[in-house]
Amino acid sequence: MLRLNKYLADCGIGSRRECDELISAGFVKVNGKTAALGQIVDDNSHVTVRGKRVGDKQKLYYIMLNKPKGCVTTVKDDLGRKTVMDFVDVKARLYHVGRLDYDTEGLLLLTNDGDLSNKLTHPRNEINKTYVCRISGALKENERLQMERGVLIDGVKTARAKVRIVEQDQHHTRCEVTIHEGRNHQVKKMFEAVGKEVEFLKRIAVGDLRLGGLNRGEYRFLNDSEVEYLKNL
Ligand code: URA
Repeated sequence: MLRLNKYLADCGIGSRRECDELISAGFVKVNGKTAALGQIVDDNSHVTVRGKRVGDKQKLYYIMLNKPKGCVTTVKDDLGRKTVMDFVDVKARLYHVGRLDYDTEGLLLLTNDGDLSNKLTHPRNEINKTYVCRISGALKENERLQMERGVLIDGVKTARAKVRIVEQDQHHTRCEVTIHEGRNHQVKKMFEAVGKEVEFLKRIAVGDLRLGGLNRGEYRFLNDSEVEYLKNL
């Protein structure tokens, strides 16, 4: 016995919120009758969406990909470029959890669990994302502090961040940056705000979940405790 929106989400139809919208719009029927929000169903219920039977609760996949640069974080690219989905051999409709730029590499989660994907990307949940970056020139202490305290991107101040210098010479600085927002090109724009250009960017962690030794372009399935960890973030 479970709520219809959860049942539909587990069948891979969308997030619970998206499923509620389908129910409200009258696209969902249970045992031949238009379904109501909050309705309870069980495994014997005959559930249809736009007239098509859904059932056999879909297996949920939780995947960590080490995205290489040179591919787009999208399910299908209109320009025919390589996408992150080209690296994964799973026959399910997967979502990418957030986005990495074309030239950014590193940890990208892929799943068909719409609820988890929404949870991890919703700004309210302030999930930490950690990046290693190489920038041109030296990052001065006042610039580092400015980035930590917040800089303006398109007129809006960024939230507190962590910026740690790992290595520095006159030509380059290697830093580790942790942010919990997910604005477009955020790390690059934070450096840009203090006059620095990012030459290399790689995401190495989401919360405490780390990329580890996964090679570029390779993926692995998360284990149960990693999935539980993400669900409880
Ligand atoms: N910040 C960026 O600037 N680019 C990314 O791909 C991720 C975070």
